[in-house]
Amino acid sequence: MAYNLLKGKRGIIFGALDKNSIAWKTAEKVHEEGGTFVLTNAPIAMRMGQIDELAKQTGSQVVPADATLEEDIDNLVAKSMEILGGKLDFVLHSIGMSINVRKGRSYTDEKYDFTTKGWDVSALSFHKVMQSLYKANAMNEWGSIVGLTYMAAQRVFPDYNDMADNKAYLESVARSFGYFFGKEKKVRVNTISQSPTPTTAGQGVKGFDGFISFAEKMSPLGNATATDCANYTVTLFSDLTRKVTMQNLFHDGGFSNTGVSQEVIDQFSK
Ligand SMILES: NC(=O)c1ccc[n+]([C@@H]2O[C@H](COP(=O)([O-])OP(=O)(O)OC[C@H]3O[C@@H](n4cnc5c(N)ncnc54)[C@H](O)[C@@H]3O)[C@@H](O)[C@H]2O)c1
Repeated sequence: MAYNLLKGKRGIIFGALDKNSIAWKTAEKVHEEGGTFVLTNAPIAMRMGQIDELAKQTGSQVVPADATLEEDIDNLVAKSMEILGGKLDFVLHSIGMSINVRKGRSYTDEKYDFTTKGWDVSALSFHKVMQSLYKANAMNEWGSIVGLTYMAAQRVFPDYNDMADNKAYLESVARSFGYFFGKEKKVRVNTISQSPTPTTAGQGVKGFDGFISFAEKMSPLGNATATDCANYTVTLFSDLTRKVTMQNLFHDGGFSNTGVSQEVIDQFSK
């Protein structure tokens, strides 16, 4: 069911790799709600992914950008305003990658070149995107910027590895930039702390299958899916949430406030 919540709104969506991506589902929902946007991803991901199919489906153009490169982001921001015919109302940062995770190095055996690269891609890129938007004065008043995070920023999940630190940094950037964006431009900045979700990035985490079923059993409402996350993001892009900013918003079926569930107790009582 669509409500036309984003009619007339324009934006940029980072991170749609394939049909499972949270950004892919979000692009579909934003399109359904009447928003128009430019899709972007790292040039290498575009060769591997299916972004052109999504572009066709949503009547969007694709502008490649490596989110660690300032010149790529500046170009993306300028081109997006040109393509969409004006300033932007929403931006989704849906980017994450850890080379330590990918190479199977544990938290106590990080290779710091990998750590630095993962931080740049997963965390600092959020600052780079916002700084570019800010300096270009590219956001309309009451615009909305959303980044995606995970609860490992607050609590330990051992195999989430250096991504936990990256997410803590990302959430802090949302708060700090949210202050300046709010004061100067009336733009809101939030992070959504999403349930484990079976995507390329999610499934890269060791023991993901156990992890996702544990979260499912712990959450009174069950895990939030990528489509649920897309719907929530639409509300944050809409005019119905204008005074929500500088928040880390848990979107996890209640997981973050559950100490233990009956299902988990039952597993240990046999
Ligand atoms: N899947 C989960 O369990 C889960 C849970 C909570 C939060 N998140 C977060 O959601 C976001 C989206 O991830 P997803 O689960 O949809 O996985 P995904 O693998 O579909 O998306 C990750 C995206 O990051 C992009 N990316 C990597 N390096 C880049 C770069 N240098 N420049 C631009 N883009 C780059 C990839 O190409 C890909 O499109 C990430 O921030 C992730 O950490 C995921």
